[in-house]
Amino acid sequence: MNLDTTSPEKNAPARPASTAGTPTQPGWTEGPAGVRMAPDSSQRPLHLGVGHIPMSQRVWHNALMTMDHLLTRKLADKWIGPMRKKHLARVMAHLEKRGPGTLYPIDRRRDLTPEQFHREYLLRGIPVVLEGAAKEWGCCKKWSLKYFAEHYGEDKVTVAQGYPQHQAGGPKNYILMKDVLDNKNSDNMKYLRFHPMLALHPELTADFPYEWFKRHKKRWHLYSHMQFFIGTKGTTTGTHDSQMCNLFVMVHGEKTWYLHPTNYTAFMDPPTTRSVFRLGRHNTGKVFEDPYRVLDGYKVHLKQGDILWNPPFYWHSVENLTDTIGVGFRWNDKRLAMQQHFTMFMLDWLAIDPSWFYMCKVGRDETRRMLGKGGSGKNLSTPST
Ligand SMILES: [Fe+2]
Repeated sequence: MNLDTTSPEKNAPARPASTAGTPTQPGWTEGPAGVRMAPDSSQRPLHLGVGHIPMSQRVWHNALMTMDHLLTRKLADKWIGPMRKKHLARVMAHLEKRGPGTLYPIDRRRDLTPEQFHREYLLRGIPVVLEGAAKEWGCCKKWSLKYFAEHYGEDKVTVAQGYPQHQAGGPKNYILMKDVLDNKNSDNMKYLRFHPMLALHPELTADFPYEWFKRHKKRWHLYSHMQFFIGTKGTTTGTHDSQMCNLFVMVHGEKTWYLHPTNYTAFMDPPTTRSVFRLGRHNTGKVFEDPYRVLDGYKVHLKQGDILWNPPFYWHSVENLTDTIGVGFRWNDKRLAMQQHFTMFMLDWLAIDPSWFYMCKVGRDETRRMLGKGGSGKNLSTPST
């Protein structure tokens, strides 16, 4: 693939000078599907993807998403389906004119104070890795696949293909924790995601400094979850987003994350499922889909002890490079979500599978149980509920 951008295609929107780079410059390489890999963040704009999809296309896409959400499924498929398909082709054609996109390294910061994190990254909706911030925590020192096999191997758990277990749509399996840990074929149906492990086993909360998360999220929030992920090498989660803020702790092992900004939502074109969770249109379960070659984004390598800030509605996909354990502290900050994407924020109020109100109830209950402050546990997504 020709990666030379020194002579942009005629009629193509000009790439900002700050993102120009060619393989002849030291360190630039070619990534998956021909996307360009920047060697460092020196040429990275503050916000990725700004203006890459014209305002008119973004407004039209928001209108289509809204109409789709409000119609019955049958009418939406008949009336809106073909329009969305044509629209997506137009967005794709526009992005193709820019040439290959660029994947940048993410900022990796050590010793960032909560105030700096809040000001420089959280409020701006810019992802960052807090390098080694959790290295000394009990979870990073103690937890391993062997530890969970020994202590919780007989737990019944719910695994779902790319969906959180709370969503009615999508295949689900009910298996034992030890089957998750014995997944030698990278079977994504044996990758345990979004699991309320700390609510089910509050003794594990002692390995997490909960106060640290409270200091870093800063603002008041309506509800939160501590979601647990455990999977063997090679398992993946395809591209998706939600309005939850996420501070993701890499407890054990290593992962690759690809992050694509909310600015590309008209490209991601999530099929309307009337859910507070959305999958990208191109999602086949892989960590990087070929059409993403035209997008700018981040490639993130998370190592044990790192904490990733993933802003609301940021599109992301994940691959386990080794056997891994991760925990996401996810909280609901309505102001931040509204700033990131107003239409998806509004549609979330109307979601029914599951509804935002249901997730709020689940999150509050999980947190109470996790902190040993009661909680009914009725909505925990275990096979028995
Ligand atoms: Fe996610």
